[in-house]
Formats: sequence, C-alpha cells, structure tokens
Amino acid sequence: MAQVCRLGLLLALLLPVVGASVPGTVVRLNRAMLSYVSEMGKAPLEWALKVTVPHFLDWSREELHPTRIQIVNIHVPRLQLNFIDGFGVRLFAAANFTFKVFRVPAPLELILPVILMADARVAQGSIGTPVVSISSCFSFFNNAIVVDGSHSTAPALLVLVQQHIKAVLQNKLCVSVSNLVQGLNVHLGTLIGLKPVGPESQIRYFMINAPAITNDYISLDINAVLFLLGKPIVLPVNATPFILPELVGTKGAMATVGLSQDLFDSALLLLQKSGALNLDITGQLKSDDNRLNTSVLGQIIPEVARQFPEPMPVVLKVRLGATPTAILHTDKATLQLQPFMEVLAVASNSAFNSLFSLNVSVNLSLQLSVSKVKLQGTTSVLGEVQLTVASSNVGFINVDQVQAVVGNVFEEPLLDHLNALLDMGLALPNMVNLYYVTPEVFVREGYVVISSGLVYQH
Ligand SMILES: *[C@@H]1O[C@H](CO)[C@@H](O)[C@H](O)[C@H]1NC(C)=O
Ligand SMILES: *[C@@H]1O[C@H](CO)[C@@H](O)[C@H](O)[C@H]1NC(C)=O
Ligand SMILES: *[C@@H]1O[C@H](CO)[C@@H](O)[C@H](O)[C@H]1NC(C)=O
Ligand SMILES: *[C@@H]1O[C@H](CO)[C@@H](O)[C@H](O)[C@H]1NC(C)=O
Repeated sequence: MAQVCRLGLLLALLLPVVGASVPGTVVRLNRAMLSYVSEMGKAPLEWALKVTVPHFLDWSREELHPTRIQIVNIHVPRLQLNFIDGFGVRLFAAANFTFKVFRVPAPLELILPVILMADARVAQGSIGTPVVSISSCFSFFNNAIVVDGSHSTAPALLVLVQQHIKAVLQNKLCVSVSNLVQGLNVHLGTLIGLKPVGPESQIRYFMINAPAITNDYISLDINAVLFLLGKPIVLPVNATPFILPELVGTKGAMATVGLSQDLFDSALLLLQKSGALNLDITGQLKSDDNRLNTSVLGQIIPEVARQFPEPMPVVLKVRLGATPTAILHTDKATLQLQPFMEVLAVASNSAFNSLFSLNVSVNLSLQLSVSKVKLQGTTSVLGEVQLTVASSNVGFINVDQVQAVVGNVFEEPLLDHLNALLDMGLALPNMVNLYYVTPEVFVREGYVVISSGLVYQH
C-alpha cells in the first residue's frame, strides 16, 4: 500500500509537466468480464467469508458452558455481478455456511443458507487508478438445517445457537466483503505500474476521469506518460481527447480497448528519441549479407573507383532524425519512415570515409497483433524505397543507379531491425497477472480497437 501511495505522489509531481499531452486509450470492460469475475470470485469470496465465531454461552444447564463454534465450510454456488448505470457494480451471492457446534456430549453440525447483496461504487482514485468501495451491503439468513446430532439437541437451544450465529455474521460478513474489495483495489492500483516500451523507455497508464458506467460496460479513459531513461518526455500537445465510438470491436468480448493515433505517435516518438530506430549496416568483403563494396559503387560513380582502386567494404549508417508517422485507415495501418542514410567506405587505414548521403523515404505496411499484455507489430515494405541525394563527396550521383544497388542492401536489415523492435511490443493497459487472451485487432480511421478476453493467472 505504501508503495502505491509513493507512486501516486511521484505521479502527482510529474503530471503538470506532461499534462497537456493526451496519448489516450479507452478500456471498456463489458458484461462478459463481470461473468468471468463472478466465476473467478467465488473461491476468494468463500475464503473471505470464513470469519471467526465467538463461543456461544450456553446457560441452559443452570451454569455457564462456553461452546466453541467453527465454520467448517462455506460454499458459494451462486455469485452474480451486474453493472449499475452511472454508479458501479451490484453483487448478489448465495452461500451455504456449514457450522460445527462443539456441544457436550455430541457435536452438532448445521448448514445456514445466507444471501449477500452489496452495491459497490466504482470511482477514480486520487492517483489515477480505479477504486471500488462498498456503498451498501446486506445479509439475509434462512433457517439453519441440522445435518447431524439433531436428536440430542433441544429445539430451544437450536434457536439460541442460530440467533448467536446470525448476530455474529450480520456484523462480520459485510466487513469481510469490504476487506475483499480493499484487496481488489490494491490489485487495480497496479494499472499505474511502469511498463517497458523499448530499450530504456517505459510507459505508465493512469485514469484521467471518473469511469463511465452503463448497464453494459464500464469505460475507463486512460492516458499514458512515456519515459525515456527514467524521465517523462513532453509530447506535442493535442487538444482533442480520444473518444472511442460505441459498438466497435467484437460483440460479447470481455474487453474493448481503443488506442488513439496519439498513442502510436507518442510511442514512435519515444522510439525515435531513444535512438532505437537507428542502425548501422556494416559491410564485409566476400560476404553474402552485404553485397555492397567500393568496386560495385565504383562502377556507377567514377570518383569512388578512382579513390578506391582496391575493393573496400561499405557501411550504411541509417539515422531517424524525423519521427516516423503511423497512418491508420480502416483495415490498413501504414508506417512512413524518412531516414537519413550515410554511405561510408572503409579506407586502407580503417578510417571511415563518407562518400555521400541520401534522404530515404519508405512506406511500410504494419500488421498489429496482441500477445499477453503487449501490442506487437510486423512490417513489410510497401512499394518503392525513394532516395534523394542529400550530399556527396564523390561528385555527381545518378540516383536511379544508386537505388538499384543500395535499395536492396538497405531494405532487409531495416525490416529485420524494425520487426525486432516492434516485436518487443508496447505494453497495453493492464494489471499484474491479468493477460489478454484470444485478442482481435481492428484498424479503424484514426484509431485501433482490440477486442479481447482476459485471464487472471498467478
Ligand atoms: C444449501 O444447502 C442445502 C442443504 O444441503 C441445499 O438444499 C441448498 O440447495 C443449498 N443452497 C445453496 C445455495 O447451495
Ligand atoms: C564486391 O561486390 C560484388 C557484387 O556483390 C561481388 O561480386 C564481389 O565479389 C565483391 N568484392 C569483394 C572483394 O568482396
Ligand atoms: C508513401 O505514402 C504516401 C501516402 O500514400 C505517398 O504520398 C508517398 O509518396 C509514399 N512514399 C513512398 C516512398 O512510397
Ligand atoms: C533531406 O532531408 C533533410 C531533413 O529532412 C532536409 O532538410 C533536406 O532538405 C533534404 N534534402 C534533400 C535533397 O531532399
């Protein structure tokens, strides 16, 4: 808990710095998610309801006999959760409590059917996490069924024992439900944990306003802060908050997650600023990987042939000075890259000589997928790689000829490099031990939708 509070303080300090930018996401948790939670929640609820019952003070035989009472089993065959429009979640549970009453001479076993009803408000906590709180809670008791030892029990005593048990449970069960919800809140708090984006860069998600709750879903507006080397990066201001349209994604999915164009722009900016997108394509003579050498370039650039009579290796330094752009159209995601490429030759004294430099423009098709908690991508080149000469130390350069030689050498390592990076993936909003399963990704005009199941795994 202290950890969460400290994180919150830190976050509160950071927020003003980056408050203007909104790399928005929307996480909508649908009814199917509540069904899953009600299945998953039975065992923890049974566990939480296992309260201690003080001794029953039996005065029936003219003197005091403290009788020990123990809950030996709790069975929750029914747990139902439903959304309450504009408020939160309603819980209904039917439970059977089995008690053992340690009476002399023979113990008594009885089953008490209990109904629990509670309303929980879901709100935004001060540190940007969802917070659940019980606003009302009631327990109702049926008559106990004596399983064992009924012949030896006076009906009057049975009534008193039941009264004792009901009075205790009346006080304790709702407290237990509240405690269970407090535990849930600690778990929900892990939403704001730092998650990796790429080398040396991280992302932290947090809620920006109160959740929107309907009868069908709870919708959380979540923004991100991106960190490079532990420092938040300031993103270009975008004044329009991201709104996820209704009825997107697959009907009946547990979660519908909307990722804005802003989130993609921000993640790409982070990758570019971190230098992770840059690469060097080294050359070696007589290698199949890099077919480029000065004798090949010499055939199309006479000055290279003059300076390098002996074949020497050529190195390509690819730098991304401009941030790549992601373009999201229905069913089609594209990445536009404009790297700057310097072509260097290794001289006989092992120094690098800059021959010329090129402005490159390349469009890549981007396929998105989700694995566990990450959005991943793979790219392939769309159309031609466009080259323009930015500078030359070797006189006139015929771009078309250079394109034929350099374009091929550059494409494959670039794709390998990008795909390795995009495979590391962007962490999606999630909580500890909660994973996306059977996700589907849809590209829409200006945003991406993920429809997914969720699974909680220790
Ligand atoms: C509780 O136990 C009784 C007796 O075994 C059974 O008839 C009843 O269906 C149970 N109720 C629930 C909610 O499981
Ligand atoms: C230079 O490249 C050409 C074309 O790939 C190749 O045939 C030749 O063997 C290379 N020369 C050396 C010395 O690697
Ligand atoms: C990339 O796509 C844009 C928009 O479709 C287009 O204007 C541009 O010419 C393309 N560039 C390349 C290198 O294909
Ligand atoms: C190459 O790109 C740089 C940076 O984008 C730009 O300033 C320069 O004008 C470009 N040069 C050519 C020849 O296109």
